Amino acid sequence: MAHTMLPPMTGPRSDAPALPVAARLPVQPMGVLESYRAARENILAVIPARALDLPVLSGRTGPQRWHMLMEPGAIRRVLLERVEDYPKSEATQSILRPAIGESLFVAEGDHWRWQRRAAAPAFAARNVDALTPVMTRAAEAAAERIGLAAGRRAVNALDEMVGATFDVIADVTLSEHGAIDRVGIGAALEAYVDRAARVTVLDMIGAPGWLPRPGRQAAARDLARMQGAMDAAIARRRRMGPGDVPDLMDLLLGARDPETGREMTDAELRDNLLTFLVAGHETTALTLAWALYLCAFDQGVQRRARDEAQAVLGDRAAGAGDVARLGYVRQVIEEALRLYPPGGFLSRTARADDRLASAVIRRGDTVTIPVYGLHRHRRLWEEPDAFRPDRWAARDGIDRYQYLPFGDGPRICIGARFALQEAVVILATLLARFRFTSVPGRRPDPVMILTLRPEGGVWLEAEAA
Ligand code: HEM
Repeated sequence: MAHTMLPPMTGPRSDAPALPVAARLPVQPMGVLESYRAARENILAVIPARALDLPVLSGRTGPQRWHMLMEPGAIRRVLLERVEDYPKSEATQSILRPAIGESLFVAEGDHWRWQRRAAAPAFAARNVDALTPVMTRAAEAAAERIGLAAGRRAVNALDEMVGATFDVIADVTLSEHGAIDRVGIGAALEAYVDRAARVTVLDMIGAPGWLPRPGRQAAARDLARMQGAMDAAIARRRRMGPGDVPDLMDLLLGARDPETGREMTDAELRDNLLTFLVAGHETTALTLAWALYLCAFDQGVQRRARDEAQAVLGDRAAGAGDVARLGYVRQVIEEALRLYPPGGFLSRTARADDRLASAVIRRGDTVTIPVYGLHRHRRLWEEPDAFRPDRWAARDGIDRYQYLPFGDGPRICIGARFALQEAVVILATLLARFRFTSVPGRRPDPVMILTLRPEGGVWLEAEAA
């Protein structure tokens, strides 16, 4: 069988341990099929290294014209000033519609607006504080699990964090008063996301319809299973009424459009709850796993974060009242979200002709914001590949539109506050109790399919601190 020569890649050399792991970006242009193949394994492979020096890079994949935007002013125009002209891309829509098509993640225009208004109170600061005890419990349980392994065997922090954040999101979405197949929903969801994501990448870069998309049928089966379980949970809740502490399902069941009084249909409810499960679970787990990797990578940072966590918490797990005093732990999270943004790519379709930075935009063009590249842009950041939580102490000189882990504008992540609170609560609780070191020879590889994951896991040794 003939072998294709892989194009040369950039990236930190393996003998230069001063920088944390980074994706290897291609330095030479790739042919169409070659980019499809590379993107299927890791979508970051479609960001050419030289894009990190440019305000915008335009190209064409088959008939589809695309632009990668990395200029904060132009990004502001797409996400905020001209948001009506830049709806979520057709590829994103076509992939997500079968799964969560009636949800606010996918909807546009009035259909999106009323759902966003209806769901917003559930994610307001007061409500996030009210839901924080669930995060504290999950942090405590994760610390107990890690405590069992401490000093004995290495732990995969990725698996631990996926477990912890699933407990949180399942509890606040479906704190079931009654039997609900949470584990079943979780397993079907993960299987679906895993299969659908690989299909997704092909569509995202405009692959022709004749390219095989293995996994599509299996993904459809997982999807039907998951939707069925969620429909059953909603029907049960309608019969039984809300619990003492309202969870997200109660809040959405009771939500009304303040202008029209409209309520959510069962399909809208189901798709939004599934969205919260998908969007709120893996992304936060990845943030925590990468943050733990970085703390093991830089023991000085870890020591400082631990000193802060121990001073604030003693031997308690963190709660809502502690978060304001865990400023350095939060800076570690913010820097982890810069180096490894779980949503590494935002994608829109232009609805009107326009000009963005130096690029001429035509109606129908795909406009992407490669968040991973933006966060490491050579002209926007000092020491772009270095792990420096101190850059978040004073944000002077950091433009709002050069740091977009949660997007921005009206479509900014509705769960951002919730996710940051959860990440600070869990990370502070763990750092106060353990000292983490990396396992020699096991470095995670940043690979993005739908989200940016540490392939190979984040293997750490934990010792009681
Ligand atoms: C660290 C964790 C998280 C990250 C990095 C993240 C990232 C993002 C990003 C980048 C977007 C914008 C996508 C775009 O503009 O194309 C988004 C939207 C969204 N996220 Fe998150 N997210 C996180 C946690 C959560 C949580 C905890 C929830 C809910 C429980 C959530 C629910 C949503 C929803 C519903 C949207 C769509 C909002 C709209 O279009 O109005 N996310 N998220």
